[in-house]
Amino acid sequence: MKNSKSQEEWEHRYQTHDMPWEKGAPSPGVVDFLASHRNLPGETVCVPGCGTGHDVREWAKAGFRAYGYDIAPSAISLSREKTDDAGLRAEFRLADFLRDEPPFPFDWIFEHTLFCAIDPAARESYVRAVSRWLKPGGQYLAVNYLIPDKDGPPFGTTRRELWRRFSRHFELKEEWVPRSYPNRSGLERMFWWRRRLA
Ligand SMILES: C[S@@+](CC[C@H](N)C(=O)[O-])C[C@H]1O[C@@H](n2cnc3c(N)ncnc32)[C@H](O)[C@@H]1O
Repeated sequence: MKNSKSQEEWEHRYQTHDMPWEKGAPSPGVVDFLASHRNLPGETVCVPGCGTGHDVREWAKAGFRAYGYDIAPSAISLSREKTDDAGLRAEFRLADFLRDEPPFPFDWIFEHTLFCAIDPAARESYVRAVSRWLKPGGQYLAVNYLIPDKDGPPFGTTRRELWRRFSRHFELKEEWVPRSYPNRSGLERMFWWRRRLA
């Protein structure tokens, strides 16, 4: 992975503890999803922009081979420490999700607060990256943040924009309003997509 300005900025936020997204717990939406879907197909899951790894550990607890990727070296070290402390197994690697190649195509990608963290001008690269890191027919589960903010991160989006960007490459299986952290209640929406075969 090449160093970039974006990497320096994110690493700086970890170094200075400027991490308002860090809730000390996985996304309530993924906790409920995994609790209510015990027999999901597939074995591998990729969590891009994994932060300190809470969501990755939730997938690992559910029996998946779980991989977290982040552009900030401190996020990767914190993820590894917390995963060892919890006695769980998961892999964490430094990567730029938008530019790098996956080690292999994944069965699942779980999105939580990466789409809203990147520059909106890079959203088409993000959509291409989800296709690149996922097997054909693979599943893309997203907790999206439907806020109006244009001066992020976090940068807002709308259901309409998500549909426009993703429906060309993915079939929508389900969407719903999840349980959220208290300060995000009513602002999140989950989308369960399947990558089109061709
Ligand atoms: C808002 S934080 C969210 C972290 C985590 N998902 C959470 O909710 O706790 C966004 C994360 O994405 C990482 N990130 C930003 N751009 C990235 C990229 N291109 N590839 C991989 N990670 C990236 C940042 O370093 C940061 O850890």
